[in-house]
Amino acid sequence: APPLNPAVLALDWLLGSWESDEPGEGSFPTIPPFRYSETLHFTHVGQPVINFMFNASHVESKKPMHRECGFIRLQPGTNRVAFIIAQNSGLVEIEEGELTGQQLSLKTHALARTSFAKEPHVQQISREFRLRGDGKLEQTVSMATSDQPLMQHLHITYRRSS
Ligand code: HEM
Repeated sequence: APPLNPAVLALDWLLGSWESDEPGEGSFPTIPPFRYSETLHFTHVGQPVINFMFNASHVESKKPMHRECGFIRLQPGTNRVAFIIAQNSGLVEIEEGELTGQQLSLKTHALARTSFAKEPHVQQISREFRLRGDGKLEQTVSMATSDQPLMQHLHITYRRSS
């Protein structure tokens, strides 16, 4: 593998594969609470970019559910970070925010959806990734839709699988 591009060195703690430790917890005012499994893959090819794939599945049946993939960039010389994301639901998104140590705080900077996306429409997403002292990675996602204010949708922790 090529050496990690120095432009993304500050994100090296994400690299590799992660697997939900215990089932993630999903919620939103309009839906019954649910649980899910998820694997994350963060890779690089020597570019000043991190590539990622997030694949969620049903805890019992393992049936594929939500999927996202994209790229992470850092503004050179700053702690400003951008996630460029495509979701299987038909949403594409740029989230921007800050890298602080081994924590990322992001929120929607731009968002678009297929013309035939079903309602309610997502209006805003905010999320955090945090590498904990015990080596586990934690992700929390909140969203606002066309009929609900910003509320938590997902919370999950992962352990390194490679
Ligand atoms: C429901 C968005 C990630 C599982 C929903 C709804 C929206 C949404 C807009 C409908 C809410 C309503 O009807 O009021 C998103 C966004 C995500 C995301 C923007 C990522 C940023 C996930 C993940 C899972 C998941 C990772 C894991 C399996 C579900 C389930 C429902 C749901 C089970 C309820 C049933 C359904 O509407 O399909 N999500 N979601 N979502 N989401 Fe997510």
